[in-house]
Amino acid sequence: MIAGTAVRPGAQILAVGGVRGSQRITNEQVAQAIDSSDEWIRSRTGITTRARAEPDVTVLDLAEGAARHAIEGSGLAPTQIDAVIFGSVTYFQQTPAAAPTLADRIGATGAAAFDLSAACAGYCYGIGLADALVRSGAATHVLVAGADKLSEFVDPADRTISFILGDGAGAAIVGPSSRPKIGRTIWGSDGAKAGFVGQNLGFREAFAAGIWPTLRQDGPTVYKWAVFTMAKIALEAITAAGLSPSEIEVFIPHQANLRIIEQQVKRIGLSSEVVVATDITETGNTSAASVPLATERLLRERPDLGGKLALQIGFGAGLAYAAQVIELPTPADV
Ligand SMILES: CC(C)(COP(=O)(O)OP(=O)(O)OC[C@H]1O[C@@H](n2cnc3c(N)ncnc32)[C@H](O)[C@@H]1OP(=O)(O)O)[C@@H](O)C(=O)NCCC(=O)NCCS
Repeated sequence: MIAGTAVRPGAQILAVGGVRGSQRITNEQVAQAIDSSDEWIRSRTGITTRARAEPDVTVLDLAEGAARHAIEGSGLAPTQIDAVIFGSVTYFQQTPAAAPTLADRIGATGAAAFDLSAACAGYCYGIGLADALVRSGAATHVLVAGADKLSEFVDPADRTISFILGDGAGAAIVGPSSRPKIGRTIWGSDGAKAGFVGQNLGFREAFAAGIWPTLRQDGPTVYKWAVFTMAKIALEAITAAGLSPSEIEVFIPHQANLRIIEQQVKRIGLSSEVVVATDITETGNTSAASVPLATERLLRERPDLGGKLALQIGFGAGLAYAAQVIELPTPADV
């Protein structure tokens, strides 16, 4: 007979860390190449600047910084981390994966380590996985990193998405809890809509043509999906956590467009008092890093939000999405 695996009552996010690209690129700097303006970009997206990393800073460098920040906040020794999940779409190497190198760099010696490709949903997919791993006993402390250096995927003359994109990394440490502090993850995909956002060309086609692929999207289609379908997914996550929309105290959606965020608040029926993450305005859309970076900023600027109930939702290329309600970490949890 095979011995059973320990089953834990719950998991929690112990700490969140983040690193943004060090340059702040203004709307004026990106507007000329796309025949746009500061006013258009501000009013249609809410973005005033986007964070972009220096050319010699890699996506792994960003992830390492965020991971170290999160580990420090958790009070754990790096060797206590036994699984590392790295969510990204901008680590431009198929094999070996980035996660084992990240684990080695941060001192998580011997940790299980794998990459996760779910674009802007990558971090929320990772939190769902980490919650399941910890509760099942398959892991005890999981590092979930979401990192993207989207400036390496940008055609400056593309006006469908390039002006939105930024660079950064966020990370969370997930560990055991005596009660659930991460609600059931509602996740899924809609591959029939795969063509609406992603690379303009696969690497094989792009290299045959002697070019580097860049990101493109059908903005209005993705916009409607993000508002209507994602509001339903968010409501499912709230119900799965045994809560009602009015009980959500903090809303941390993927930072794609401030107008999408404002409409999601209304459609989900969140309270007028809910604290809404709006890191998009300064950081831009950092894909897998966007939700953890928005969380990192909220906890830094508003430490009183520790322990509050937060709804987080990631969505993007795939189309892939994941939502869950979490209790925000407090230093007392460490
Ligand atoms: C990309 C996005 C900001 C475009 O905004 P929008 O309000 O939908 O704009 P539209 O594409 O409908 O275009 C409206 C007008 O602005 C113009 N326009 C489009 N992009 C422009 C730009 N970058 N700068 C200036 N004008 C632009 C269009 O030509 C159009 O002009 P017209 O009315 O004279 O025909 C928006 O669709 C969006 O945020 N989409 C979803 C993004 C998202 O969630 N992505 C998730 C994956 S990361």
